[in-house]
Amino acid sequence: MIEARNLTKRYGAKLAVDDVGFALQPGIVTGFLGPNGAGKSTTMRMVMGLDRPTSGSVTVLGRPYAEHRNPLNVAGALLDAKGVHPGRTARSHLRALAATHGLPASRVDRVLELTGLESVANKRVGGFSLGMGQRLGIAAALLGDPQVLVLDEPVNGLDPDGVLWVRRFVRAFAAEGRTVLLSSHLMSEMAQTADHVIVLGRGKVIADAPIAELLSSGPSPRVRVTSPDAIRLGELLRAEGARSTQESAGAELVLEGVEAPRVGEIAAAHGIVLHALAADAVTLEEAYLSLTRGELEYTADEYAADRQAAAAVVV
Ligand SMILES: Nc1ncnc2c1ncn2[C@@H]1O[C@H](COP(=O)(O)OP(=O)(O)O)[C@@H](O)[C@H]1O
Ligand SMILES: [Mg+2]
Repeated sequence: MIEARNLTKRYGAKLAVDDVGFALQPGIVTGFLGPNGAGKSTTMRMVMGLDRPTSGSVTVLGRPYAEHRNPLNVAGALLDAKGVHPGRTARSHLRALAATHGLPASRVDRVLELTGLESVANKRVGGFSLGMGQRLGIAAALLGDPQVLVLDEPVNGLDPDGVLWVRRFVRAFAAEGRTVLLSSHLMSEMAQTADHVIVLGRGKVIADAPIAELLSSGPSPRVRVTSPDAIRLGELLRAEGARSTQESAGAELVLEGVEAPRVGEIAAAHGIVLHALAADAVTLEEAYLSLTRGELEYTADEYAADRQAAAAVVV
């Protein structure tokens, strides 16, 4: 469990983390969401005792991380992609880490197995793909068989296979009753990985809720319907309290305030032919943007870039 109280970090004039509080629960994946510069990495470094809070505190399993006698048994982290010597093999890198922390070599074999790296264990790290490098970073974080895993943007730049692997891995880890904090600036990735999300904007917590709750707080879902008799159908639905949105055009109606089954029932009752009927799911992106509107320096260009990146990782 990780608990932050009034956690604040200032770099000169810049307030990177501003009075942040949260209590992470074991057994679930908590997503740490927010655009670049929101303060996610700074918060994670403070969790792992790598950065000193300007004020406030954060504890891992009840005490500051650095005060644990066996910190690697408590929490493991993948923060910035580490500089592993490219000439080393994955196994020799992990053996050296294990030896400096008094961990047995058998544990190295175990984490190589857990991260699916056995077949490349004796290969030089310099030849690893980004995905392999991330697996190695996660293997290192797992050496002490920790109760808590802290991963900063672990899927950044990974191909769909790599993203899927990380997602399955963290979900299985949490299912063992352990605690996972995983950051991302990609909303769609989080929707499929995390059970609970903490959203940071300009250093502040702007949401801390189960994914389902965040989704239901977003814009209302829409129904798309195509009919050769769209005008009459639209009139009937508006009489029921539905609103057509600006996107409605020609034979297609885009409606709010009505659910898809009701649209089908009304059409059937009036003998109106439908060519298509679909409910748009509210995506976490939309919920997130609606939540953070006006709160963030998040430009349309950045959003478009994220949409593209997100489309590439949804598998
Ligand atoms: N070591 C540092 N020195 C000065 N400013 C920093 C430092 N680390 C982060 N910042 C600033 O703090 C803010 C939060 O950064 P960061 O925690 O990296 O955000 P995120 O991980 O959400 O992208 C940014 O404005 C960043 O420029
Ligand atoms: Mg970061």
